[in-house]
Amino acid sequence: MKKRLLIATGGGDCPGLNAVIRAIVKRAQQEPEWEILGSIDAFNGILMDPIHLVELTPEKVAGIHVQGGTIIGTTNQGGPFSWPVKNPDGSWTVIDRSADFMERIRNENIEAIINIGGDGSQRISQGLFELGCHIIGVPKTIDNDLSATDFTFGFQTAVDIATDAVDKLVTTAASHHRILILEVMGRYAGWIALHASIAGGAEVCLIPEIDYDINSVMEALKRRTASGKEFANIVIAEGAKPKGGSLSYLEEDNPCGAKRLYGAGLRLEQELKDAGCEIEIRTAILGHLQRGGRPNAFDRILASQFGVKAFELVLQEKWGYMVSYRHPNIVAVPIIDAIKEYNYVSPDSDLVNTARGLGICLGD
Ligand code: F6P
Repeated sequence: MKKRLLIATGGGDCPGLNAVIRAIVKRAQQEPEWEILGSIDAFNGILMDPIHLVELTPEKVAGIHVQGGTIIGTTNQGGPFSWPVKNPDGSWTVIDRSADFMERIRNENIEAIINIGGDGSQRISQGLFELGCHIIGVPKTIDNDLSATDFTFGFQTAVDIATDAVDKLVTTAASHHRILILEVMGRYAGWIALHASIAGGAEVCLIPEIDYDINSVMEALKRRTASGKEFANIVIAEGAKPKGGSLSYLEEDNPCGAKRLYGAGLRLEQELKDAGCEIEIRTAILGHLQRGGRPNAFDRILASQFGVKAFELVLQEKWGYMVSYRHPNIVAVPIIDAIKEYNYVSPDSDLVNTARGLGICLGD
């Protein structure tokens, strides 16, 4: 009987997930004793009744490295440790199904798991590892907020998309003599906003790591007007907030998903108007466009490196480890170290210094 390896993709999707799946399957093809399965919609495939797994053959993954999304589906709600159950009155209860999960894994004769996901998914990996699960983590997120790896795949593609949006908004801002605000994703990290601001040439970049003062933003806009430029481009991260202010969330009933950041750009538009800005303002929210579509070459390569390395860690039985990019190498780090802290933009970093050197106002 073949050894069974299960792959799951969890959390928000990002460009490059399919390239990891393909790389694992291709590498496994060289070890004929292994059979590769995919769990549908993260670990829901194991926890649902009936169990929903798919065989991942070389034929099935051929050419998928260029496709966005994930062919095995994903979810960023719940999981083995926090499974949502709807009560008759419509409210939700969250239950721990980790013991049930472990039993189902045993019943399916699953020898090892590769869990591809961000911080939430890797916390699940660590929890399962502590229950004795033979698990390897692969980090992914467009937010680039995972520590213990230089980059996650998906991030560079998201930056390309955000930069393309800045390029487009510059021409419409210039034509209409307007201020164009672009709100980008990134959760509580400003990596996408900062990279797109530098690459696209924004005048103002507001990130979660530096609370902004609306007067500083106004001053920067006035200086620009005084220099004869009648338009400006602002990039704001969804997790940015004014000094003394709070984060901008969507109000919604979400039993076990994270709260959704949204509207920081619209709030900034209002704050600028309230502060007396006389230039016409428009705001664009880039949203999930940053997560969809084809991964760029960098992300395809990084994802492929992660996939091959992850399978080799399975062969080495390095359970509880996550693959990581430490330029120029792909290494293994304990998952527990990777989830200890987030990777945020340091206000003292060279990247922030570059932005300041280019005259980009960071709102402080
Ligand atoms: O973590 C990736 C991410 O796209 C964040 O940048 C964003 O805040 C969040 O996921 C959006 O999640 P959802 O897909 O639930 O809207």
